[in-house]
Amino acid sequence: MAELKLGIAGLGTAANLVLPYVGQVQNVRLTAGADIRPKARAGFTAAYSLPAFDSVAELSRSDMVDAVWIETPNHLHCEHAVTAAEGGKHVIVAKPMAASVAECDRMMEAARANGVRILIGHSKIFDPPIRAMGEIARSGRLGKVIQIDSWLYNDWLRRPRLPEELDKKKGAGFVLRQAPHLIDIAHYIVNAAPVALSAVTGRWDPHVSSEGNAHVQIRYASGAFASLSLNGYGYFDTSELTWDIGTFGATKPGAGSARPRPRSNVALTDGQKFSGLATPAQAATPTSTDAMPFFGLHIVSFERGVVRQSPQGLFIYTEEGREEVTLPLYLGRAAELIELRDAIAEDRDVFPNGEWGRENLKTCLAILTSASEAREIAL
Ligand SMILES: NC(=O)c1ccc[n+]([C@@H]2O[C@H](COP(=O)([O-])OP(=O)(O)OC[C@H]3O[C@@H](n4cnc5c(N)ncnc54)[C@H](O)[C@@H]3O)[C@@H](O)[C@H]2O)c1
Repeated sequence: MAELKLGIAGLGTAANLVLPYVGQVQNVRLTAGADIRPKARAGFTAAYSLPAFDSVAELSRSDMVDAVWIETPNHLHCEHAVTAAEGGKHVIVAKPMAASVAECDRMMEAARANGVRILIGHSKIFDPPIRAMGEIARSGRLGKVIQIDSWLYNDWLRRPRLPEELDKKKGAGFVLRQAPHLIDIAHYIVNAAPVALSAVTGRWDPHVSSEGNAHVQIRYASGAFASLSLNGYGYFDTSELTWDIGTFGATKPGAGSARPRPRSNVALTDGQKFSGLATPAQAATPTSTDAMPFFGLHIVSFERGVVRQSPQGLFIYTEEGREEVTLPLYLGRAAELIELRDAIAEDRDVFPNGEWGRENLKTCLAILTSASEAREIAL
């Protein structure tokens, strides 16, 4: 199998969640980065002894890379994905795929025209418990999925933010940054066409110009429905309900009784936002005792049972009582790299692909429309 040379565009917070995993994937090699911030470029080059370009265009023209993982702000995903595709590079793009459905179409068209793939990155579909719940649904073992209830409480509004990260017109803000995950989870597990959505949102933190909470109901063609509750004000974290285990399987004992994170989110400059961002260390090799990742609490009801996550896998509740199944190791962001590498080698499309990302964004945008117009939106 030929080696896949990977470049990372945007060397900020999310890139730091990817970089530690690149070295763990056979036949995938990190070869370059790109960022407009000189400090980010210098930090990357010092840590990895690799070049960092000052534009995504230059990275995309370079023979050093076969694929570009786009970790730039949402409103730049389209421009950067099209540039990478036109340079003949495969694309992994962070969620949400873009700022508008028209941008998603342009990205897919560029990928088609240049014979490259677009994979949606940071999707919770790569988390083993979500995958396994989807597989139970597809197996028919418990009958059809009838209902999903998801809760996600975190401190998204208190984290360091540039003004553009709160701007709905730029495809950002709490809803467009956090709802993609819960929508991916619901759409993937239900595995039926979403028919309609109704939502309410709230904006109750006077320090932040973004919605901070939302409730969403989605109806599916199969008769299933999903109920999603999101709250990012930072007073409570759902990980307190999931054995103190949160995103990426990290355990934070006692976090529930601690004071909320101090607010550090008000119209920061680049220098202020990135001053504390360290270059990431290599990720530890996962072991069988590591916990599974929890991104909120999800209870999936089937015709003949209920499934939810346990620390090492799933709890399955049926007429026989509760059964626990353990799951394969959580690979973090290595999962996307394995998917792209294997799709290229097997000459198949990736999953989740551009169509999937477009559907997800359409659903996220419908949340905002439904809330502002106080009506159900057909999907
Ligand atoms: N922060 C997270 O935990 C997280 C997790 C998953 C996905 N994401 C997604 O990752 C993407 C980036 O988010 P983030 O939190 O890392 O933002 P960030 O602001 O921390 O980092 C963005 C980086 O992109 C760089 N950049 C800006 N304009 C650029 C340009 N024109 N060319 C090259 N580089 C440019 C910035 O200098 C910065 O280093 C978003 O789409 C977000 O939804 C973020």
